[in-house]
Amino acid sequence: MKELKDRVAVVTGAASGIGAALARALAGEGMRLALADVEEPALAAFAETLRGAGAQVVAIPTDVSQRRDVEALADRVFRELGGAHLVCNNAGVCQGGPLLEMKDADWEWLLNVNFHGVRLGCSVFGPRLVEQGEPAHILNTASVGGWLSGGTLGMYSTTKYAVVGYSEALAMELEPHGVGVSVLCPSFIRTALTDAARNRPAALGTAPAGMEFVEAGMAQGGVPEDVARHAIRGIREGAPYIFTDAVFEPLIEERFQRARAALKRAAEPVSDA
Ligand SMILES: NC(=O)c1ccc[n+]([C@@H]2O[C@H](COP(=O)([O-])OP(=O)(O)OC[C@H]3O[C@@H](n4cnc5c(N)ncnc54)[C@H](O)[C@@H]3O)[C@@H](O)[C@H]2O)c1
Repeated sequence: MKELKDRVAVVTGAASGIGAALARALAGEGMRLALADVEEPALAAFAETLRGAGAQVVAIPTDVSQRRDVEALADRVFRELGGAHLVCNNAGVCQGGPLLEMKDADWEWLLNVNFHGVRLGCSVFGPRLVEQGEPAHILNTASVGGWLSGGTLGMYSTTKYAVVGYSEALAMELEPHGVGVSVLCPSFIRTALTDAARNRPAALGTAPAGMEFVEAGMAQGGVPEDVARHAIRGIREGAPYIFTDAVFEPLIEERFQRARAALKRAAEPVSDA
């Protein structure tokens, strides 16, 4: 989607970090904004800041893991802003720690927000974008962790691999309808993700420790404003994948090499032992 000015962008997880940077940059492109987040006071304060800078902004408290919230979000966006052209399913949370120590409650939280939050954003907004019949784009935030696993982030990576796979398939389904899909795969970026447990539902109990790997990565990480610049270029170009630097390229290449070796082996006849 090349033209952004005066069109409507929806950004989830907009009250902090990458979502906030994306919202600010999209406002700079002249887009009208619907900002959604589960942290209501932070969302209201950020929306007010953007309005002060001249942007047209509606702030809509939303838990992306709840279908009724996402449907209410879409209803308000179409009613108050007249439609939607860019839907950024960005809200996400993180929990580290050895896979076999993760409780069902930990899985429930991460899968609900990171995967189902993205899926719900797509399944609620997608048909409306198609029906609207105007140029439109969906940006799903995964992570470089959607290409690499390990480093005590196995559970997080599992949810992000799901976002990459889902986005690839959705791109094929929506292409004939003129709706683009990109999957955003940032490297470590300095945000409040290290304190994601602030939004963990109380009913799921306390989050286990295990964020040391993320904290160490983030200390060397990039800034959200750079992610926003890469995202906007990728949206304009209709890029299927948007990385934010090439730091992890050697490790991703190694993964492909392991897959290539396995494929070569698969082409060799298997003899009975
Ligand atoms: N920071 C990184 O290093 C990094 C790297 C790759 C991918 N990401 C991804 O970027 C996205 C944004 O994260 P961030 O780094 O800006 O972190 P952040 O914590 O600064 O921002 C995340 C936002 O999502 C919101 N949120 C959490 N649960 C929600 C829910 N159920 N419904 C609605 N909003 C919810 C939070 O309130 C917060 O405003 C996430 O999907 C994250 O996984 C981050």
